[in-house]
Amino acid sequence: MPASGRFITIEGGEGAGKSTQIGRLRDALAGLGHTVVVTREPGGSVGAEEIRKLLMGGGVDRWDAVTEALLVYAARRDHLVRTVWPALARGEWVISDRFEDSTRAYQGAGGLDLAAIEQLGAVARGSFRPDLTLILDLPVAVGRARAAARRGPSDRFEDRGDGFHEKVRAIFLATASAEPDRCAVIDAAQDLDTVAAAIAATVAVRLGVALPR
Ligand SMILES: Nc1ncnc2c1ncn2[C@@H]1O[C@H](COP(=O)(O)OP(=O)(O)OP(=O)(O)O)[C@@H](O)[C@H]1O
Ligand SMILES: [Mg+2]
Repeated sequence: MPASGRFITIEGGEGAGKSTQIGRLRDALAGLGHTVVVTREPGGSVGAEEIRKLLMGGGVDRWDAVTEALLVYAARRDHLVRTVWPALARGEWVISDRFEDSTRAYQGAGGLDLAAIEQLGAVARGSFRPDLTLILDLPVAVGRARAAARRGPSDRFEDRGDGFHEKVRAIFLATASAEPDRCAVIDAAQDLDTVAAAIAATVAVRLGVALPR
């Protein structure tokens, strides 16, 4: 039987360490012989990367909350159809830097009703869900300091205030509590190696792969 691919999503606020830890996880899984596709949202396919430019650029108030969510879901649908589902069908592992929980967190913090997000999700992805979602959690101020230290130009979401980012964090944690089988919260304020070890341990237990610690 061919190895079956798994879909892992990494979530968390700016500077939580998502990109850093995805690199480590990809290397660990590749070391076990898996083919690993690393992708991101919004984006991850040609069409979705075009939509990403519309979402990330411009002023904070460029889109109202519903328009923004429709753009996010148009991008998500294209990403799934063109990138994620074909890779999983080939038996590859897919790691996405952000996915639907970021919609709940960011568009939810922006004022969109979470029930509306569920409805859009039902249209765009049916019952498809990640096999595992790692939520990298850390205090907003720590993430902001990390992101600032590494900073390129900021985007529409980073430009919002601390209150917005506190709401984002709270929605991520509420999602993890509501869906404990899919989600795992990782303490991302720890040092890089400790976070990587926590992720490896979680992936090993949840998905049944023996990753080196
Ligand atoms: N555990 C850690 N301890 C200290 N610094 C870290 C840790 N993890 C990441 N960093 C540093 O913090 C910065 C942000 O990390 P990274 O780019 O991986 O975060 P991110 O979650 O992908 O951010 P963004 O949402 O902005 O893409 C980088 O300079 C990275 O080296
Ligand atoms: Mg990143």
